[in-house]
Amino acid sequence: MDHAYDLVVRHGLLAGPAEVFEADLAVRGGRIAAIGRDLPRGREEIDARGLIVMPGGLDPHCHIEEPGQDGSVSEESFASGTAAALAGGTTSLICFVPQWKGHPIAATAPAYEATAAAGARIDYGFHQIITDPTPEVLHGEIPALVARGIRSLKAFLTYDPLRLTDGQFLDVLTAARAHGAMVTVHCENDAAIGWRIRALLAAGLTDPRQHARARPTVVEREATHRAIALAELVDQPIQVFHVSCDEAAAEIARARARGVKVWGETCPQYLTLSTDDLARPDFEGAKFVCSPAVRAPGESERVWARIQDGTLDVVSSDHCGFSFATGKRGTGPGLPSFEAIPNGIPGIETRMTMLYSEGVAGGRIDLPTFVRLTSFNAARLFGLAGRKGTLAPGADADLVLWDPDAEHTITNGALHHAIDHTPWEGRTVKGRAHTTIRAGEIAARDGQILAAPGTGRFLARPPYPLARGTGRVPDGFDAAAALR
Ligand code: URP
Ligand code: ZN
Ligand code: ZN
Repeated sequence: MDHAYDLVVRHGLLAGPAEVFEADLAVRGGRIAAIGRDLPRGREEIDARGLIVMPGGLDPHCHIEEPGQDGSVSEESFASGTAAALAGGTTSLICFVPQWKGHPIAATAPAYEATAAAGARIDYGFHQIITDPTPEVLHGEIPALVARGIRSLKAFLTYDPLRLTDGQFLDVLTAARAHGAMVTVHCENDAAIGWRIRALLAAGLTDPRQHARARPTVVEREATHRAIALAELVDQPIQVFHVSCDEAAAEIARARARGVKVWGETCPQYLTLSTDDLARPDFEGAKFVCSPAVRAPGESERVWARIQDGTLDVVSSDHCGFSFATGKRGTGPGLPSFEAIPNGIPGIETRMTMLYSEGVAGGRIDLPTFVRLTSFNAARLFGLAGRKGTLAPGADADLVLWDPDAEHTITNGALHHAIDHTPWEGRTVKGRAHTTIRAGEIAARDGQILAAPGTGRFLARPPYPLARGTGRVPDGFDAAAALR
């Protein structure tokens, strides 16, 4: 018998970026084909009564199988990281291609892209990290990247050997503007952090709590202000990554109010963890080391307020795991002091459940806001509008059927990532992914992964439409000409 559709999801509560309504949703050829009531039968039918049907998550900030210049590779493979993503309701991600100082982008990109293609179970795009903006990179490699669909760059203002000087950052902003790339920025003042670390170590203070003392909010606020000011000078849109505190968010809000195109991202760690976690005994605080650092108890409520007022409009995981027992975080004798603990928290699988539980079930945000934060806004910012993050005919049929009532306790044994811990171990949360559908196929159900490695597709993204005439560029200054 011929069917009008490949799949029909019936009787669900559909939640899009703007509204919530009851309807059926039909899929054909991997895309959403129709939304309405009493749709004709599909070859496959899912009864979604009691479930919320949302766009699958787009996690635009994940570190997966990232190689280091020292020959290391992050523990999370594409196969494990994207299994974890699917189990948590995420159907696409953007991860990072490194560039190493002294080397062209071409030295790392092809191998990394091949690794992603072989392992990914979900669709993926890349942000290109720029650490060495030579003339060849600025004039040759960046335009070539954008032409291949990699239209976002990451700049670090801290971390040796990744960081850029202000002058180099200006060059990257200028190249991005000329060629249509979005620039994402890690904002912390490198010199201030170095100065604080030296003082703390001289005083014999080495435990994980000192990580937050070495990187107080002012170092994030200062670098956020500076990144915005330099982007304003070039008239280049930027997104500030992993905003941890109200002070940094306030810089974004102030700049936006004067018309600067700046966006802000935050992560579940800044909404749910605090410096109390860094103080956990037996060096367990090391599990909570990320940069920017988690903040004093109470600060996360102010970050929630910045979500509520629209300053922070993307919640990514910044998934970047390092195992505790077997990996570089360290246990046992010879514990590393705080500055040697690798930075990053694993959270690709727990991102949506933490945000739903604390946000929607916790009464802080509504369902459309949840959709905007977990997929729609990132899709718009990073060139995937209309394709990802929306429930509309023609969009990719990437969906999560969400059980809003499922109360469960997070435990690492039940997660699919390759890391030996989760910072949310033992937390009881409400709401979880019941079934995740990617390109119209059931890819995960009840924690069981059905999609194979290598089935994810590379997401080529069109250039960022240059926003001319914002009124923020000094009169007569041509940023593109400055490159020539
Ligand atoms: O601590 C963090 N955030 N690690 C991941 C790398 C980065 O800066 O995003
Ligand atoms: Zn960063
Ligand atoms: Zn990151």
